[in-house]
Amino acid sequence: MFTSTNPSDINQVIATVPEASASEILTVLRTAKIAQKSWAKLPAPTRGRIIANVGRLVESNKEALAKLITKEMGKVYSEALGEVQEVVDTCDFFLGEGRRLYGQTVPSEMQNKNLFTFRMPVGNVFVITAGNFPTAVPSWYIVPALLAGNTVVWKPSEFTPAVANALTSIFHAGGVPKDVLMTVVADGDQTFAALESGLKEGIINKVGFTGSTAVGKKIGAKAGEYIQSACLELGGKNPMVVMEDANIDLALDGALFAGFGTAGQRCTSLGTLWIHESIYDAVLAKFASLVENAAVGDPFKDVLFGPMISQKYLDNHLEHLKMIQPHHKVLGSSSTGRITAANPRKGFVGDPEKGLFAHPVIVAGITKNDQLYSTETFGPLVTVGKFSTLDEAIDLANGHGYGLSSAIYTKDPQNVWRFREGISAGMVSINNSTSGAEAHLPFGGNGLSGNGSRQSGIWVLDQFTRWQSMNWDWSNKLQKAQMDLIEIKHDPNFILNI
Ligand code: UN1
Repeated sequence: MFTSTNPSDINQVIATVPEASASEILTVLRTAKIAQKSWAKLPAPTRGRIIANVGRLVESNKEALAKLITKEMGKVYSEALGEVQEVVDTCDFFLGEGRRLYGQTVPSEMQNKNLFTFRMPVGNVFVITAGNFPTAVPSWYIVPALLAGNTVVWKPSEFTPAVANALTSIFHAGGVPKDVLMTVVADGDQTFAALESGLKEGIINKVGFTGSTAVGKKIGAKAGEYIQSACLELGGKNPMVVMEDANIDLALDGALFAGFGTAGQRCTSLGTLWIHESIYDAVLAKFASLVENAAVGDPFKDVLFGPMISQKYLDNHLEHLKMIQPHHKVLGSSSTGRITAANPRKGFVGDPEKGLFAHPVIVAGITKNDQLYSTETFGPLVTVGKFSTLDEAIDLANGHGYGLSSAIYTKDPQNVWRFREGISAGMVSINNSTSGAEAHLPFGGNGLSGNGSRQSGIWVLDQFTRWQSMNWDWSNKLQKAQMDLIEIKHDPNFILNI
């Protein structure tokens, strides 16, 4: 059994759900695999209407779902509402795709012959997601996968089973058959064992994974053994570069939201704030004061951030605090670590003893050789460093090998274009924070952040469909491509004589 508790009040149980073993997951995978054929036979516009129903139901249940998200994983309620809206947006985009899902007619090099392309579903998709976005990120996989005619087995985070079951029940209420989307809660080892056997048995045809780079590597390698490429959305150490000419208040608004929103537990959270050396001291002081005075606490109140998702995430944050070195300057709070009565935070909203709250931390003076430079911290910890030229900033921003999100604050278009060209991240924000991507632009990263797969918008369709090409020769004779060429009469030596 898995028991999820409210991270703002750890004595409050939210849900207790059965824990699936690898063999139980395999049974579910087989059931979904069998259901796929008839689901794919349903016309795509009909599947689009089902997605439309799901979108409307998510919308009408928005507050209830958002409340459950805040209670089960702790993000502030306004962010939870935004997250649910992201599910609605994803459904709104893909309901129309049911009436497109275009293939092409392509000219043939021969007469009396026609060429076509079709998008074919990949089959049964195994989706494994994290607890920080318990509805939006899963919907990025589930919605397009279903729309394109695939079945889905979803393994949500064990920290958010109540949200997962609620979202699944909305899909079913919207008309998705129960064996077309099936949700199982399991631990990492059982999930991986099922993944391996399922790939071997041919009942997993695509894997979607959002989570850490370390686990993503294992999943990607396993999928590769079975000639598959997983859709991987992994970690980030997202840089934000503040140029000399930037609007400083705007940049710091962005840094505060990206660094500490969701308690820093977004894959798009700000990693390092890189500040131009000429404004470094002043901007750092301003940032420190903003963080010092930010409200932390009860996520149903007006706070910057609430608790960590679970004890595991808090422990992870505490480990990262050990990476702080004597040459660093720690700012933003009167203390670090868990917030308690004995280790209080000024102006804390609520009772810190009840939940898993952590002090926000700024670690200034970061350099390329520091462990914190290249470690995704996934908590309320932002590193800050300085640079002298844009080239140096780009080098620092790319140097750790992650490449998910990035941002630059400047008024100079030359800086914008040079940054866009030089940054290795899959997503670039100009005068905007590293987090908060819209649901219909390609989402994904490079290097340690992902294998090039993109979610969202039309781009994700390439993850959940395969192109089938068809040629139809109606000449009633064997015409040989590349050999039966149509002769072209021409004069290759022609020169204008004027
Ligand atoms: C994630 O943390 O895995 O851009 C996704 C954002 C959100 C999605 C984050 N729309 O911050």
